[in-house]
Amino acid sequence: MTTHTEHQAQQGREPLDVNTPGLSQFDIVREGARRDDIEIVHYEPQVAPGSKAERRLTRTVASFFLLTGLAATAFLVVYIWWPWEYHAGSGGDKWYTPLLGVTLGVALLGIGFGILTWGKKLLPKEVSIQDRHEGAVASDDRIITGQTMLYMADELGVKRRPLLGISLLAGLAPVGAVAAAPLVGGLISQPHKNNQMFTTGFAPAEGGQKVRLVREDGRPVRPADVSTGGQITVFPGIDHGVSNLHADSPTLLIHLRDSDAQESRRANERVGHGDYMWGNYAAYSKICTHAGCPASLYEQQTNRLLCPCHQSQFLITDNARPIFGPASRRLPQLPIEVDSEGYFVAKSDYTETVGPDFWERP
Ligand code: FES
Repeated sequence: MTTHTEHQAQQGREPLDVNTPGLSQFDIVREGARRDDIEIVHYEPQVAPGSKAERRLTRTVASFFLLTGLAATAFLVVYIWWPWEYHAGSGGDKWYTPLLGVTLGVALLGIGFGILTWGKKLLPKEVSIQDRHEGAVASDDRIITGQTMLYMADELGVKRRPLLGISLLAGLAPVGAVAAAPLVGGLISQPHKNNQMFTTGFAPAEGGQKVRLVREDGRPVRPADVSTGGQITVFPGIDHGVSNLHADSPTLLIHLRDSDAQESRRANERVGHGDYMWGNYAAYSKICTHAGCPASLYEQQTNRLLCPCHQSQFLITDNARPIFGPASRRLPQLPIEVDSEGYFVAKSDYTETVGPDFWERP
């Protein structure tokens, strides 16, 4: 071990010729440090090579890296393969996001603890003093830098402790794959499998049976239930139609005044929705096309439907065209009629995607 006083004494001494045969790698490294005005004043291995303590620490570090590899692999499996398909409201899916967080967290903690233990317990303790200097790099310095890098690699002990190298590779390779997982997942996942994104609870049942418009308590709605100028929120009259399973289905059924209804019909015809209204009644999705908030503040005098989230406004008498705010797409219109028993039904499902825009629109 060299003391601080020795360091001061060595300040003015002649440089060592690094081509001198017999110099050890450490001698060259130390000489390199000196030429950079760095004096290694304390150098002490923490564990003896081949000792029991070294083997124990090696196993500990390797365990952390292998834990990292396992956690990162679990992240990939969850991210890409489970759940293979999304089923709204089903039990297992609620664990998806927490599991991604836990596995990624364990992977990162494993790397952190592994590197900390390696650096704090296995690498030699070293104290150096550096005097700053400026200047071009000489050829000797390049030799010295090369030797220093090799020496550092030796000091990491990967050659002597192959388990560390293997575990580091096994741990970090899956972490690298985690970074690429979103790309792979983006290629594999099929968010609108079975047309999931394009159907709502108003899609006719098998056999073509039309779905009724019901209140929150499940009672079907008749024309007389909505006064002129009024509106009511309706849901598909199917099992769980008023639950989150069909969160894209809430619809505003509006009873327009005569003059407004005429204006609406003209606007509907312009966009190919000539037969979407029943009498003076029109139905529009409540799911804002901007970011999906429920747009349900209906201003009767102006026929505007307001979304409270970012203040988009839709003009109902112009086929729910956005006239203010960030929304850029009309609220989809539900084609409606009245069945033989006098209740409102959806003639078909929505004919446009409900909710915020996404780039693969039908
Ligand atoms: S969600 Fe409606 S305006 Fe933003």
